[in-house]
Amino acid sequence: MPKPLGNNTAWSFDMPTLSADDIARLVEPDRVHRAVYTDPHVFELEMERLFGRAWLLLGHESQVPNPGDFFTTRMAREPVIVARHTDGSARALINRCAHRGTTVCDAPSGTTRQFVCPYHGWTYGTDGALAVVPFAEGYDPPAAGRRDLGLARVPRVDAYRGFIFASLAADGPSLLEFLGHLRTSFDDLVDRAPSGQVEVAGGVFKHTYRGNWKLVLENHNDAVHPAFVHASSIWAARESSKPESDGYAEIAVRQMLQNGAPPELWESTGLWAAPSGHSFMGDYHTDSRLVTALDHPVFREYRTALERRVGAEAAARILGVSRWNSIVYPSCSFMSQFRQLRIVQPLAVDRTLVSAYSFRLGGAPEQMFRDTVAFANVVNGTGSPVLTDDLEVYERAQHGLTTARSDWVYLGRGHGSDLPDEHRTWRGKTGTSEIHIRNQLAAWVRYLTDEP
Ligand code: FES
Ligand SMILES: [Fe+2]
Repeated sequence: MPKPLGNNTAWSFDMPTLSADDIARLVEPDRVHRAVYTDPHVFELEMERLFGRAWLLLGHESQVPNPGDFFTTRMAREPVIVARHTDGSARALINRCAHRGTTVCDAPSGTTRQFVCPYHGWTYGTDGALAVVPFAEGYDPPAAGRRDLGLARVPRVDAYRGFIFASLAADGPSLLEFLGHLRTSFDDLVDRAPSGQVEVAGGVFKHTYRGNWKLVLENHNDAVHPAFVHASSIWAARESSKPESDGYAEIAVRQMLQNGAPPELWESTGLWAAPSGHSFMGDYHTDSRLVTALDHPVFREYRTALERRVGAEAAARILGVSRWNSIVYPSCSFMSQFRQLRIVQPLAVDRTLVSAYSFRLGGAPEQMFRDTVAFANVVNGTGSPVLTDDLEVYERAQHGLTTARSDWVYLGRGHGSDLPDEHRTWRGKTGTSEIHIRNQLAAWVRYLTDEP
């Protein structure tokens, strides 16, 4: 008699075995094999060993402020419910009925006392415990109340400054160890709030593109592409008339003009790579309206509110941080200064979902949030004149990588000149270095060659 399969048994019919050597050979110091972006077997391994292990950002506490609040998301291939339980804790549950496998909840978010499976009515609490089973006596032993038939839990859930992360692996580095110095990017975002708290607001922009998930994370710290990919919006901004005085259009025009900054500026931008594949850009442009607060009553009011909580010196320090995109590998990218966060979810080797969130700074004048929404419309909205350019090049990159004539992707910009810096980071010699991509791929190899 064959041995019964246990729970969570890795199972595949004909997947070729990729050895650690096979994987390691795909990534060289300054180049990477196209299979990393195009091979479905590599993608399966990524789901198991990278997205199945790393801490993934699921969302923010403000999305589930009260008991019963929930939102749905996914981790690797798992559909997941994040719910605030009655004991106040945030739970991450696998959205898969213990009876015959139906996804239990298909609402993107909401509030509920229980999750009721649409198929046969099995009902679960916000902690995933099985509460009600219709026709319960028909099972032997009776199904109601059985602990082994609840919604499976994601093994580890933790939060940093209100940002909820989870890991599908029961063991591994703690969230703080995983984040390392990238913690300071979350600090930078939250410290900007006069109340000391931020909240997700204004809905979410979602888009998919027909390309591998790595393309977006590689692009968010790529300082060479704006002048080329975003040329059309740079031209439009240069020809635009003076922005409206309420700042709504101004923030958009400023960003588009910034994309057309001269090469020297991009070269002098800071670009840091950190352990676990993370990275961030610094010394980038600052929203000087906030720093000087000279010319607009709204920004003056905001700055005064922040100073009231932290003092003038600390407020100047907080508003003077000019960090641009911070990437927490492999699941998100965010910009503290403009209060934007993008969560990246691979759907297939050549299909990726990106969800973009905006944050309201607690205690700030409401017009500050209008400013945030304006920025979101320009950079992350599905009608954005900037985002659409990026999506076009992701899809063209994916298309180019499917050709078999040439197998390698060259990542040599700045190779050999990376410099060790504080807080266990490495800094690209110039801001246009591809250090962040080499760093992501080094982490990728570590995750994928670490066999269970
Ligand atoms: S599949 Fe969920 S109750 Fe039957
Ligand atoms: Fe871009």
